[in-house]
Amino acid sequence: MMPNRVTLVEVGPRDGLQNEKQPVAARDKIELVHRLQAAGLREIEVTSFVSPKWVPQMADNSEVLAGLQRREGVRYSVLTPNLQGYEAALPSQPAEIVVFGAASEAFSQRNINCSIEVSIERFRPVVEAAHARGIKVRGAISCALGCPYQGEVSPDEVERVVRLMKDIGVDHVGVADTIGVGTPRRVQAAMERALRHYPLAEVSGHFHDTYGQALANIYACLELGVSSFDTSVAGLGGCPYAKGATGNVATEDAVFLLQGLGIDCGVDLDRLVDAASFISGVLGRKPVSRVSNAVLAKRPAAQTEAA
Ligand code: HMG
Ligand code: MG
Repeated sequence: MMPNRVTLVEVGPRDGLQNEKQPVAARDKIELVHRLQAAGLREIEVTSFVSPKWVPQMADNSEVLAGLQRREGVRYSVLTPNLQGYEAALPSQPAEIVVFGAASEAFSQRNINCSIEVSIERFRPVVEAAHARGIKVRGAISCALGCPYQGEVSPDEVERVVRLMKDIGVDHVGVADTIGVGTPRRVQAAMERALRHYPLAEVSGHFHDTYGQALANIYACLELGVSSFDTSVAGLGGCPYAKGATGNVATEDAVFLLQGLGIDCGVDLDRLVDAASFISGVLGRKPVSRVSNAVLAKRPAAQTEAA
């Protein structure tokens, strides 16, 4: 059942940086994307078109997209929670957009200021408009394994949102463990609900590593045949509306796992570590990735500084 090939959707520039308190310059975000694509990543979530009052770090969305040297074969995606965000994103020609809902009512209210039902009604015209232009729509389902406000979240609650997303024509669903509390069997139970409505190729996993379970959860999804995962360079990330939730699983750690399993993901680990080292330098700290730190520890000091 294990896939031969896996797609990693690099979410570091968006999910990774959105939570940083210190402003990160647009030129550094652009450089990060350039390094990620140089490392072989072919799907990159660049930014989000949300309220700059809610998430100031993403206020430079259009500037970042305008500064990219786009590579053929790389798909650049952006988050658009409503028609206003979609329309603002359009001039930047995203190849893919992401609408993001939640399996928990409480989180939906805190994150996007509306109920699950209202969020779907906001997504509906976004999906229609995107499809009219041939833009693919991914749907993220936050808090699929637990919610910081509600606590437990059941597979039934996940399936409810999967169904609602399917009804409005969302092309792909991502099962997201926003606060990183999922463990392998529970993750499989949530994934199986998504797989009742979407084919294997259109379901992905998005795991935050708060409790150190993210790689185990990826492995559990691989066992089901799932072949697409969101990961974040240097383990950056967190959600401004999920206090205490740490970063996503580090892309480097996922790549090392996949390489060890003989599963192709098209990423050059050494160049990826360069990207991790670069952005960690900008933020003034070490990467939150066992693999990056292990690789960097073996490099001569001069080479590490140059990266
Ligand atoms: P709202 O206040 O309900 O919207 O916000 P509104 O329509 O009532 O408008 C209020 C104000 O927001 C107006 O401005 C609008 O112009 C503006 P004002 O007149 O007060 O100056 N506005 C916008 N501005 C820019 N872009 C827009 C937009 N829409 C309205 N698209 C909204 C609703 C969703 C915009 C708001 O709640 C928001 O921005 N929330 C931030 C959500 C967010 O970015 N969360 C983090 C990403 S999700 C995540 O990390 C989870 C994920 O990684 C998966 C996982 O781990 O679970 C995906
Ligand atoms: Mg996330």
